[in-house]
Amino acid sequence: RLTPVILSGGSGTRLWPVSRGERPKQFIALTDERTMFQLTLARIAGLAGATAPVIVGNAAHVDLIHDQGDEGMTLILEPMARNTAPAIALAAIALEEQDSAMLVMPSDHVIADVAAFHAAIARARDLVAQGWLVTFGIEPDAPETGFGYIALGDELADGVRKVARFVEKPDAARAAQMLADGGHVWNAGIFLFSARAYLAALAQHQPAMLAAARAAMAGASHGGNIIQPAAEAFAACPSDSIDYAVMERADKVACAPVAMGWSDVGSWDALHALAPKDAANNALHGPSYAIEATGCLIRSDGPHVTVVGANDLIVIATGDEILILPRGKSQDVRKAVAALAERV
Ligand code: GDD
Ligand code: MG
Repeated sequence: RLTPVILSGGSGTRLWPVSRGERPKQFIALTDERTMFQLTLARIAGLAGATAPVIVGNAAHVDLIHDQGDEGMTLILEPMARNTAPAIALAAIALEEQDSAMLVMPSDHVIADVAAFHAAIARARDLVAQGWLVTFGIEPDAPETGFGYIALGDELADGVRKVARFVEKPDAARAAQMLADGGHVWNAGIFLFSARAYLAALAQHQPAMLAAARAAMAGASHGGNIIQPAAEAFAACPSDSIDYAVMERADKVACAPVAMGWSDVGSWDALHALAPKDAANNALHGPSYAIEATGCLIRSDGPHVTVVGANDLIVIATGDEILILPRGKSQDVRKAVAALAERV
């Protein structure tokens, strides 16, 4: 059995102002008519041996998940966000008895070549039964600091390597060094392991997190296809990502490198790179216009937005917010979000 587990509880602040607390990135259509969450569900259709998915998300987004989700899905609704390691723990506890293999996926990525993704999963299946925690590796092309880096070791199976070292979100110097050294891939943020192997790794490296997640599931309320972990117990759970809490520490970690047209659509710059563009390299979405302008990303879901005679701008208009910044600087959106918090 292989159960897709989709993580949809993130806040996605780097795509502000379109992505916001009440409707984060995964529930927005960015690269397609379908939302990122819907694209994630579509990606598991036809996956050999897969059951209906488990969605782990925030209780505040239950309506979005219902609107955008499938009939057969099971929902685990976190009463508050505790990052990905506890979110995955809740799903692992739910799947422990049948010892499902879990395919853990973020809900906010693009994968252009789904066949290549499915083939990589098939290559790693045998290792899952042997207790390995499998990651998927992307060939890096820049010293990005927002990703996990994997140093590849010996081959364990055809197209699957042992992970010699896992480094989550290195600083710029270390990222540049790993790129220069070669032999490193980015962690795609997708994981494949048995429920029991993940719980064993938590028992070893994060016992307090495991205990809190178990207490939350022991006290969970069940209704229809919805599981609601006990709020008080989950509130006491330490907050951390699977990358820091488990992957940097565990021994039996493997990686299947895969070329599958992956992007985490992590910024407005990344979206400009992915989006269809006109002859002047402008990506236009909604009622937006570029006149004697090149290299712009202009996106509006309200007012008509026209850029004249300016190059390489990002202009985002949504609701009562307008964001303008130069291309190449979209990581600075967080400064706008921080300033927003100070506004009354
Ligand atoms: N259910 C739930 N609960 N989901 C969450 C939570 C939570 O508390 N926090 C984040 N998520 C979801 C996000 O919505 C996203 O789909 C996924 O989990 C990953 O979380 P991010 O916050 O986007 O992680 P990241 O991008 O900083 O880093 C991860 O992804 C990179 C690739 O994009 C790491 O795995 C890196 O190593 C990796 O390179
Ligand atoms: Mg992410």
